[in-house]
Amino acid sequence: MTHEPPSTQHLTALASPDELIDWRLALCYETAHTTGILDELPASAADIADARDLDPDAVRAILFVLAGWHYVTVDERGVFSPGPRRPKPHERAALAQHGVWIRRWAALVPRRVYDRQATAPDTPPATDPATGLALLESAGHPFVNPVVDTCLNTRRPATGDRGGPRVLDLGGGHGAYAREFARRGCTTTMQDLPGVIELARADGRCTAAGVELVAADARTDLAPGPFDLVLCGNLTNLLPLGQVRDLLSRLRDVLAPDGQVAIASWLRDHGPVGAAFGVQMLVATTAGDAHGESDYRRVCGDAGYTDIRFVDVGQPPLTLVLARPARTT
Ligand SMILES: C[S@@+](CC[C@H](N)C(=O)[O-])C[C@H]1O[C@@H](n2cnc3c(N)ncnc32)[C@H](O)[C@@H]1O
Repeated sequence: MTHEPPSTQHLTALASPDELIDWRLALCYETAHTTGILDELPASAADIADARDLDPDAVRAILFVLAGWHYVTVDERGVFSPGPRRPKPHERAALAQHGVWIRRWAALVPRRVYDRQATAPDTPPATDPATGLALLESAGHPFVNPVVDTCLNTRRPATGDRGGPRVLDLGGGHGAYAREFARRGCTTTMQDLPGVIELARADGRCTAAGVELVAADARTDLAPGPFDLVLCGNLTNLLPLGQVRDLLSRLRDVLAPDGQVAIASWLRDHGPVGAAFGVQMLVATTAGDAHGESDYRRVCGDAGYTDIRFVDVGQPPLTLVLARPARTT
């Protein structure tokens, strides 16, 4: 049995409001992480500045913020050391990434409010895909079981169901959902863009779990079905609504007649984190959005789905939009 580290969701920019890290701490932590200040501890601000070619007053100011939150301690000689409340190793990248999001919001929101495509010279560069997916997996693992439970408990069992339900995890990324479906006896396929599938193959966990990997762009190609369930986890928010409708429409071709589509995403009208996710998509993408309930109801209907339901799972609530292909007469 594998022991996953506890979720890092509370350290991210998508934490519940009552858990959200203070922005001053997040920004100082990100700077200390990125510049290597944290790697020099224990040391004085002057020695750290020397070693990393930084300004000693700035280093001291940043470290005193971390000391204020007990992430570091400082002794009477001015030597800073790791403190009792410092993030654990697996939490460090998540908290630093939170600081990056604050910088992205600050750089891009004032520009994108005028122009959706606007860029800013001081925007931190995008995280590489492997790191981004690892962060998403570590934040999101408390959602995996409730999402998989809800998907399986709400589907109509197909007659026979030999070999378990056939599941497509579309845009599966890190593969945590696909592996959990496979672990529950589903015949599972994960489709993602070629670069991500290459990472999944190198990682080896999906293959070891028996998940079939398919490299294809979902906007043009879908793994051949039929599938009893297609999960789109945090994928439709990357697309404008017209493309979500087209995707749903094409998914009907690979869904079994009694199949179900499940969209897992943060919805702008499902609480403050869902609302914040809309701005996250504004700065992270040039066309994505935290589409709301009425948007999903409309595009599912337009794409030929019926029995459209919304189920919130976990905290903060991640929403599952569930729908079945309407029967054609
Ligand atoms: C935010 S991640 C979600 C990962 C996982 N499903 C989850 O919910 O945590 C979005 C995933 O969708 C994939 N993706 C984005 N556009 C895609 C496309 N056009 N076709 C296939 N996959 C796509 C990305 O590569 C990424 O792995």
